[in-house]
Amino acid sequence: MCGIVGYLGSKKTLQVLLDGLRRLEYRGYDSAGISIGARGKEIKNIKSVGKIAALAQAIGNQEIDGDFGIAHTRWATHGGVTEKNAHPHHDCKKNIFLAHNGIIENYRELRAKLLEEGHKFYSETDTEVLAHLIEKFFSGNLENAVISALKLVKGSYGLAVIAKDDPEKIVVAKNSSPILIGMGNDEYLVASDASAILDHTKEVVYLNDGEIAVITLQGVEFTNLANQKLDKKKEVLEWNISEAQKGGYPHFMIKEIFEQADSIKNSLAGRLMVKEGNAKLGGIENIAEKLRDIDRLIITGCGTAYLAGLVGEFMLEEYAGIPVEVEMASELRYRKPVLDKNTALLCISQSGETIDTLVALREAKMKGLPTMGVVNVVGSTIARETEAGIYNHIGPEVSVASTKAFTSQLTILSLLTLFLGRQRQMSLVTGQRIAKELNALPKLIQKVLEQEPEIKKLAKKYYKSNNFLFIGRKYNYPVALEGALKLKEISYMNAQGCAAGETKHGPIAMIDKDFPTFAIAPKDSVYEKMISNIEEIKARGGSILAIATQGDKEIAKITKDVIYIPKTLEMLTPILSVIPLQIFAYHCAALRGYDVDKPRNLAKSVTVE
Ligand code: M6R
Repeated sequence: MCGIVGYLGSKKTLQVLLDGLRRLEYRGYDSAGISIGARGKEIKNIKSVGKIAALAQAIGNQEIDGDFGIAHTRWATHGGVTEKNAHPHHDCKKNIFLAHNGIIENYRELRAKLLEEGHKFYSETDTEVLAHLIEKFFSGNLENAVISALKLVKGSYGLAVIAKDDPEKIVVAKNSSPILIGMGNDEYLVASDASAILDHTKEVVYLNDGEIAVITLQGVEFTNLANQKLDKKKEVLEWNISEAQKGGYPHFMIKEIFEQADSIKNSLAGRLMVKEGNAKLGGIENIAEKLRDIDRLIITGCGTAYLAGLVGEFMLEEYAGIPVEVEMASELRYRKPVLDKNTALLCISQSGETIDTLVALREAKMKGLPTMGVVNVVGSTIARETEAGIYNHIGPEVSVASTKAFTSQLTILSLLTLFLGRQRQMSLVTGQRIAKELNALPKLIQKVLEQEPEIKKLAKKYYKSNNFLFIGRKYNYPVALEGALKLKEISYMNAQGCAAGETKHGPIAMIDKDFPTFAIAPKDSVYEKMISNIEEIKARGGSILAIATQGDKEIAKITKDVIYIPKTLEMLTPILSVIPLQIFAYHCAALRGYDVDKPRNLAKSVTVE
């Protein structure tokens, strides 16, 4: 995701900032920028699309060194990948410059008001409103203006701000997006991620939500939004650079698994309308009227994205009443499906570059279908070529095994179900119930993640198995397929996913004491049926690992290995039930000694046929 670096001290500011940005490259980004100031001088602001090398080239031999500065790597969320949209952003007078990570949810309202007040905007970003808002309150003291502005802001931010007219100062603020201050010898650094500053200091202070740091050459003062002084303690980091890039985790996959409470928050941010029982999906507003008239939806994608589509089918049919077909893009592109103008196509792709999905999209466009995307990478080919779309907003997914993209895709599909359902027969009460449950998801995800030690124990017990069966029904049938896909792609164990009701039509023949089964059996409308399927496998000597709903005592009587997930709406259970399977696959692969993030024979994005 985006990265921030800031520096105030006697070293060469430009060099410290560029080195810091390079340390953040692993996070993925599409553009970068730097703002450097010196007392009595204009702030120099240079930005460029592409790699840090391109930024360094744009800077060239220009004399831009100064005493204080901020820098940023951007991963586009609002607005395309352009130099104008890159950070740092500035106000009308080019006094205030800021670098921001996160999403300003109420930026549309703020922007409209600021436009009315005469502010001139130059970018399509949500971030630019912050610069103008701070400008509005600025009268010589930067921290006071930042505090006044942030009181009006809804959303997440890790923020570093400088001002020409209040020089040699960096004001830093946090809400739901990490940021820390590095405390060096007579120098101070700011970073969204410790890896950017480890070359200079290991002593850091992490800001909590609602806290502000005011950095000057005299030291750092910590306050909150109510302007109360805070006494914050330094921590000493014991990480090396490579550990820091993975946030202290040994692999990106487990880091990304643990990001899911936050990534789902980001996918929902500014979109969920709990009171109205609806979703605000700005990216598909342009085809909202066409969508009202469709009588069929085809969802396509590959691998994990395709499996997310299967869950989407069940949600959309049950709650929005739209007939849905889900088809692997690699099959859809070679068939001659009946595509008429009352059918819409939805492409799901994390990378937005998967060739099979792209070709299926082009085929549908040629036939005149309305097309939409659920894509993570802003500005990717599928994002550009679909008529409308919803971004995941979860930051880059580095590990080849898709984890946080899957749960985000399910979250977006739930939002789409709300939107299309409310266009049709879904009642306000049902809409409100779904919206309320969606809102609660990040906390529930956190509870599932807390069980990682127990799941690791299970992995230790089973990682030497050569075979694994995964079973589930209804909403959790695609989760069984995803659990098997995850396990096979990184641990190379033979894993098969199967609809639980199908086991006795064939797969149960494989079961013996050395062929364990993962059964996804939350307390839902098919629970009793799942219990029968579990009993059938047990009766053939197979051992069972179960995923069950918190408080389910019955299941513990038939299997000792149970992972509990909190209760939620049936259609949302896959977002919780898949997480133990991701953790299990991760630990099995790590215990088997494989390169978890880069499994053999696979690529993160399959762009060739
Ligand atoms: O970038 P996409 O979402 O289009 O990628 C689709 C699949 O290649 C991808 O989900 C793949 O199956 C993952 N490696 C699964 O973990």
